[in-house]
Amino acid sequence: MFTPLQTSMLGRGLEDGKWDLNLVNFRDFTTDVHHHVDDTPYGGGAGMVLQVMPIKKALDSLPSKGKVIITAPQGKTFNEEMAQKWAEEDELTFICGHYEGFDQRVYDLADETVSIGDYVLTGGELPTMSMIDATVRLLPGILGNAASPVEESFSHGLLEYPQYTRPADFEGQKVPEVLTSGNHQKIAEWRHKEALRATYLHRPDMLENRELTDEEQHMLKE
Ligand code: ADE
Repeated sequence: MFTPLQTSMLGRGLEDGKWDLNLVNFRDFTTDVHHHVDDTPYGGGAGMVLQVMPIKKALDSLPSKGKVIITAPQGKTFNEEMAQKWAEEDELTFICGHYEGFDQRVYDLADETVSIGDYVLTGGELPTMSMIDATVRLLPGILGNAASPVEESFSHGLLEYPQYTRPADFEGQKVPEVLTSGNHQKIAEWRHKEALRATYLHRPDMLENRELTDEEQHMLKE
C-alpha cells in the first residue's frame, strides 16, 4: 500500500537517503497459524477489534521508535504546524489500523492520536501516507526549489495568492497587469493582499487566530 511514498519526489529522496521508510507488518508478530490480529469485542456487538499484543510486539521489535503516532478519526486533526514540528524529529512511528478499531490499550502505546479530518476511512494507511508526505516534503533537499515550502499556503497563516504563467491572455482572461509590471514591491503588495482576500473569502476561521497588522487591516477594508 505504501508505493506512493516510493515514487516521484519522495521516492527520489528515499533513493538519495534523505529520509528512510521502514514498513513493519504486525501480522508477523502473531503466534497462531492464521496470523490473526483481531478478535470479537468483549461485551458483544458487531465487527472485530485489533488486538494489543501483535502491535506491542511489533513496536518492541524496533531498535528505536521516536514519537509514536496512532491514526484514528477521534484524534487531533493534523495540520501544517504539526508537519513542521514532526519534520524536526529524527524518527516517527505510525500505527495503522485496518478496517476495525483498536483495543483501547493500543492507544496507551502511542504518544499521540492523530486524524486527517472528520470522516472515516477503512484504514490508517492513507492518513499515514498523507502525514508522511506533508512532513517529508519539508525536509531539506526533498523539493527541487528550496524556497518553496516556506512561501506557500498555511506557512504564514494565510492561503496562497493566485499564481499565473503563460499565456498572458487565455481566451480573454488576462493575467493581472501588476504581475508583468516588473515592479517587485508592487507585486509583493498585490500578492499579500490577494492572500489575505483568499483567506477572508475561503477560510475566515484562519484569520480568527491571527493578529492582523495595521497594513493588513487597511487591505481588508479596501
Ligand atoms: N482511520 C480511519 N479514518 C481516519 C481518519 N479520518 N484519520 C486518521 N485515521 C483514520
